[in-house]
Amino acid sequence: MIGRLNHVAIAVPDLDAAAARYRDLLGAEVSEPVDLPEHGVTTIFVTVPNTKIELLHPLGNASPIAGFLERHQAGGIHHLCYEVDDIRGARDRLVAEGLRVLGDGEPKIGAHGKPVLFLHPKDMDGVLTELEEA
Ligand code: CO
Repeated sequence: MIGRLNHVAIAVPDLDAAAARYRDLLGAEVSEPVDLPEHGVTTIFVTVPNTKIELLHPLGNASPIAGFLERHQAGGIHHLCYEVDDIRGARDRLVAEGLRVLGDGEPKIGAHGKPVLFLHPKDMDGVLTELEEA
């Protein structure tokens, strides 16, 4: 069921500084910022040869990552994202085994214009885990 690692997401206190670091110091391909109001974040994608890094910064007052950045003021790894072929099928199978899906349980459109959902970190060894239908 589980597919490729699509990205590792890092919450960053300064999005411009983080983007410049990956682009100018590390020589990576770095996207323009994209606002995702439905998710309360601004994202920048860094492409490396075998995966992507998603730089996350809060957008708006009720951002789900604002609290994370309060607890991790230097930033930190926020979630991992794996690809799946059939996100609703994957969800149904995992929920039947007792895993919890955040929110209302319905996939939402994520940063790549594809359906995503998040598994509760307490059910995933402390790691917030995103599934994306690839
Ligand atoms: Co993500």
